[in-house]
Amino acid sequence: MEDPIAGAAQQAGKKSHPKKVRVVPESLRKFREIREAAEAGGPPDKVEAQKKRGKLTARERIAYLVDEGTFQELGLLMESRCTDFGIRDKHIKGDGVVTGFGRIGGRLAAIFSEDFTQLGGSLGRTHAGKIAKLMDMAADARCPVIGILDSGGARIQEGVDSLDGYGEIFYRNTKYSGVVPQISIIVGPCAGGAVYSPALTDFVFMVQGLSNMFVTGPEVVKAATGESVDFETLGGAMTHASKSGVCHFTANSEQDCFRQVKELLSFLPASRHEAPPTSETKDSDTRRISLLEKLCEMDPRKPYRVHHIIWWLADDHKFLEVHHNYAKNIVVGFVRLGGKVVGVIANNPAHMAGALDINASDKAARFIRFMNAFNIPILTLVDVPGYWPGVAQEHGGIIRHGAKLLYAYAEATVPKVTLVLRKAYGGAYIAMSSKMMGGDINFSLPSAEIAVMGPRGAIEILYSRQIKEAKDEEKEAMRAKLAKEYSDKFASPYQTASTGSIDEVIEPAQARARLISAFRLLAEKRRPGEAGRSGNIPL
Ligand code: HXC
Repeated sequence: MEDPIAGAAQQAGKKSHPKKVRVVPESLRKFREIREAAEAGGPPDKVEAQKKRGKLTARERIAYLVDEGTFQELGLLMESRCTDFGIRDKHIKGDGVVTGFGRIGGRLAAIFSEDFTQLGGSLGRTHAGKIAKLMDMAADARCPVIGILDSGGARIQEGVDSLDGYGEIFYRNTKYSGVVPQISIIVGPCAGGAVYSPALTDFVFMVQGLSNMFVTGPEVVKAATGESVDFETLGGAMTHASKSGVCHFTANSEQDCFRQVKELLSFLPASRHEAPPTSETKDSDTRRISLLEKLCEMDPRKPYRVHHIIWWLADDHKFLEVHHNYAKNIVVGFVRLGGKVVGVIANNPAHMAGALDINASDKAARFIRFMNAFNIPILTLVDVPGYWPGVAQEHGGIIRHGAKLLYAYAEATVPKVTLVLRKAYGGAYIAMSSKMMGGDINFSLPSAEIAVMGPRGAIEILYSRQIKEAKDEEKEAMRAKLAKEYSDKFASPYQTASTGSIDEVIEPAQARARLISAFRLLAEKRRPGEAGRSGNIPL
């Protein structure tokens, strides 16, 4: 490498002195050698193997994430103190993880990036200590923690020390939950107990074909249960995005993944002490939403994707969906309304008619709790026929899981605005941020049907004797007549509006304008939680 100081001295020397070759002092040469070796990560063959698999190195990943030239590394030269298995003698600089602070879109973030080229990115005590220290500093600096995970798990050679290392991290994941946003990016293996750190964070990103998460791998599964399964099916990105719900965002490549992380961060405050960032928009507050007029004319039994409504309501039609592939009967994510960030929770009639079930309850409850922790107002769009029926749901604990949704909504003190689009029946009506559950401003469209249950179900109970006694050929006509009478009386928003449980039935085309002004009105809302109170969420 060219030595700029020596170069300058040579330049100067040209003028008045005979040419001198400046010798780099031994201490400087040694320092540079050590730093370069440390920054190179693992041995060249391991780095080569990492690249051959199509994976970036730990430092390349950080470079993709942070604004150029802003990364301040901490603990580059730290090594393991483990004397067993000759680990200490290997002098592995950094101990398999790069930690430090950088700026992302100009905003501070703490980042750790595990280095699979050093002992498989396995977690020993020093490695864990670096991460724990970074998390403490991030909490003090009130900025998000972003973990990039690519590791074989607890470092076997370090025994219980490495397990304790995970303990240090899990403790901080929990301690700082709801204090600073925590994001996990899985870009390789994440096995054994190691999976519980990402599971304790707010958002998990995985890359298809690259990331795996499992408590026990395919070989242990085979030995224990006889089931044959490959890595991808057992714990790949799509498995966790669609089946287990562990993963919130999937990406096609690492680069795509880091782009998505930056987009998510643009919606989040740096800590619970801040409001989310606002942004300018040229989108008019009063833009008409003609799509909602069409909804009013539609057959109420016809399904539709609620995404279309969210896109139309949002500033610049931008919606960042969270958990896109999981529990598709409910949709959650971030939009901006009039430049301000809002979290949306919406029933999705295109999937299971938008009914609530176990997974939808869990998904929405967790999202609501995140919104509440980080001062993000909540918009609820309601089109829900009720709870999904079935033995599997009852035995799976829909009562227990459904209660989480009620708890999360009732507990949330951020501004809550609800818009009933169409159906709002029974217990699901109550759950979806109804007025009595603490909704601040509750609107409905004229197309709303708010009642204890749908017309067909209601008349079978109310008129069961009359229907049973009617002649077979008259039964259907009788049902239709009774259902219409019921619908006229109950399946509208007007009875609910007359009791004050709906604040206003609004013009559908004005929905965006009304929502923006409702959130502006509520911007000053302050209702701090009761000090010292610790609720008992039904987990
Ligand atoms: C020490 C490890 C390691 C580990 C991998 N390595 N995992 N070293 N402790 N946990 C080392 C390997 O010995 C190897 O070293 C290098 O990393 C690369 O590993 P390979 O096996 O060659 O790579 P690959 O074929 O890609 O397989 C990656 C892997 C596999 C799937 C992650 O290494 C593996 O199954 N590792 C163990 C995973 C696991 O069971 N972890 C759980 C541990 S228990 P060399 O010197 O050859 O380069 C746990 C409990 C935590 O995590 C509990 C917390 C509460």
